[in-house]
Amino acid sequence: MKVLVIGAGNMGLTYSEGMAKSPLLAKHNLKIYDTDPEKISSLEKVSHFDVYDNLEDCLPKADVVFIAVKPYHSDDLFSQIKPMINDQQIFVSLMAGVTIDSIKERLGAKKVIRTMPNLPAQVGKGVTSYTESEAVSKVELIMVRSLLDTTGESIHVETENFIDASTGISGSGPAYVFYFMQSMLEAALKMGFSDYDSKVLVSNTFEGAVELFNQSDLSPKSWMDRVASKGGTTRAALDSMEDNNVKQLIQDAAYAAFDRAVELGEQ
Ligand SMILES: NC(=O)c1ccc[n+]([C@@H]2O[C@H](COP(=O)([O-])OP(=O)(O)OC[C@H]3O[C@@H](n4cnc5c(N)ncnc54)[C@H](OP(=O)(O)O)[C@@H]3O)[C@@H](O)[C@H]2O)c1
Repeated sequence: MKVLVIGAGNMGLTYSEGMAKSPLLAKHNLKIYDTDPEKISSLEKVSHFDVYDNLEDCLPKADVVFIAVKPYHSDDLFSQIKPMINDQQIFVSLMAGVTIDSIKERLGAKKVIRTMPNLPAQVGKGVTSYTESEAVSKVELIMVRSLLDTTGESIHVETENFIDASTGISGSGPAYVFYFMQSMLEAALKMGFSDYDSKVLVSNTFEGAVELFNQSDLSPKSWMDRVASKGGTTRAALDSMEDNNVKQLIQDAAYAAFDRAVELGEQ
């Protein structure tokens, strides 16, 4: 299998690094293409994959092509590559809000897989949801899944509506967690802790809670009940959150991202 990644930005490099570290691809079977000459020359010095500034040399031979440019660059890119592609190639789009139909129409490709990645892919803890056009076979889907899994885990969804929904949960989700972390950091600082101690208190609390959750069958609700005894400190905090409708506000935020993803797809 020969893979080409178009766009050596945050996401393109994240997926390239993940695939390069995995045993899935033989050396020289992972190529990366970008239009920025500076990026190309700096990557050539450090990369464990082949770097290109010329599509003619890398696109026609690729079996799988990752599209990792910003959506507003896709028109230019598609008109440039349209004459060079073939019906057997699989295009894996990382672009937020760009529908499969729009890619098929503008690019003239048949096999398209649309994904929604998230930022923790940078540390191998990402979650990518994905769905495909009709022309993609089961075997091809499994092959692409194994590539996506090199940055964490992936989830297959039946329709693109779930890609937009996962934008509201996992795509934008890391920012919700950072929001919560930032709020707790600011509370710790207000209470008089140093920057360093605040960071240790907050980051270990998040990491420890996630680890407890992952290592058990308990739901977050059950963990809350375990840690909050009647009349105690945690119950006071949780009651304050309930009184202020925090759960509803978080769900509203997730739906705001979901709705915005749908809106962007329609534009
Ligand atoms: N970052 C995230 O957390 C995240 C999450 C979910 C989805 N995504 C999606 O991932 C995609 C990439 O995002 P990103 O943050 O990685 O963007 P980025 O850092 O801007 O990377 C895009 C790269 O593609 C290059 N490029 C532009 N036009 C090109 C062309 N015609 N051919 C080849 N390369 C081209 C850009 O060069 P220049 O810098 O010179 O323009 C840049 O190096 C986006 O579509 C985004 O919606 C990102």
